[in-house]
Amino acid sequence: MSKRILVTGGTGFIGSHTTVELQNAGYEVVIVDNLSNSEAKVADAIQQITGKKTAFEHVDCTDFSAMDHVFKKHDPIDAIIHFAASKAVGESVQKPLLYYRNNLVSLMNLLELMKKYTCQNIVFSSSCTVYGQPDTLPVTEQAPTKKAESPYGNTKQICEEILQDTCNAESWLQVVALRYFNPIGAHPTTLIGELPNGVPANLIPFITQTAIGIREQLSIFGNDYNTPDGSCIRDYINVVDLAKAHVVALNRMFENKKKSNYEFFNIGTGRGLSVLEIVDIFEKVSGVKPNYKIVSRRAGDIEKVWADTTLANNELGWKAEETVEDTLLSAWKWELKLQKEREKKQ
Ligand code: UFG
Repeated sequence: MSKRILVTGGTGFIGSHTTVELQNAGYEVVIVDNLSNSEAKVADAIQQITGKKTAFEHVDCTDFSAMDHVFKKHDPIDAIIHFAASKAVGESVQKPLLYYRNNLVSLMNLLELMKKYTCQNIVFSSSCTVYGQPDTLPVTEQAPTKKAESPYGNTKQICEEILQDTCNAESWLQVVALRYFNPIGAHPTTLIGELPNGVPANLIPFITQTAIGIREQLSIFGNDYNTPDGSCIRDYINVVDLAKAHVVALNRMFENKKKSNYEFFNIGTGRGLSVLEIVDIFEKVSGVKPNYKIVSRRAGDIEKVWADTTLANNELGWKAEETVEDTLLSAWKWELKLQKEREKKQ
């Protein structure tokens, strides 16, 4: 019998791509999502890609009794991948309590229900935000965590601590935290991709929306950083590569290959690219030059960060495969598809 995986936030950007990879790998998936930042039709698109049935529960993870019902209905759940969380850095500064409640209560509910229903395994969506500005690059998992720049970042740090403390207290619990760098791109079928809510806060959707004409101009936040071209450097990871990291993390759990009950890995490409380099590469692959201007720095931005992925390479046997060129092209094809849908609606 195939193992059943509960994917919270499964209609979101990373959750939907991960559901596809899980189903392709033979796992059965139950999605839980409150649709606060996604759409129910994503579950249909996933089904269209994989040809497999996707159970979908429209439930909020902070609602304990509704989640209890989901666990009862789909018992046994063999593992959880927990994506469901609020993720907008700027909004978290405006609404800290919303972020603390949503992100912390969801995780605590899951951990309590895992005990009640004897589900041992959870993969947690963490972030390179836990490192702040690292002292040395590329950053390894041994680097100290730094005080978070935002309530959102703080929730990721606190969730990691909650998981670590619970692992110390409960030896049955198996956790893998994946520290994502900057996920970008879309599925090659263009059936799923990123659906930003309103004005995109992230670089790639802002670039594609500018290139297609929805936004007038991309603002590049600063060209006076201590980097070769003065703009910030990030490690941009293809979302399908990132999705595959979840599958190998689960396999490792089910094959009892973990070295301790709490493990954490960097999931990036190991390559840092500046904002200006990304804009250049985008122009090369799409043939469209996004209109941009340099503006002042954005508060809270890290100057430069990219991953040392040695641990994920060696322990998970995982490495990023897609080129940034193909990844940016996939993001562009996704935007072109969304544009066609927008035009049809008019
Ligand atoms: N940027 C621009 N203009 C924009 C948007 C972004 O110049 O309109 C720049 C940013 O200044 C930054 C880079 O593009 O240098 C990437 O910015 P994103 O907002 O796309 O991503 P961040 O690195 O700021 O944020 C990501 C995740 C967060 C996570 C954070 C940790 O989106 O969830 O990494 O550092 F918390």
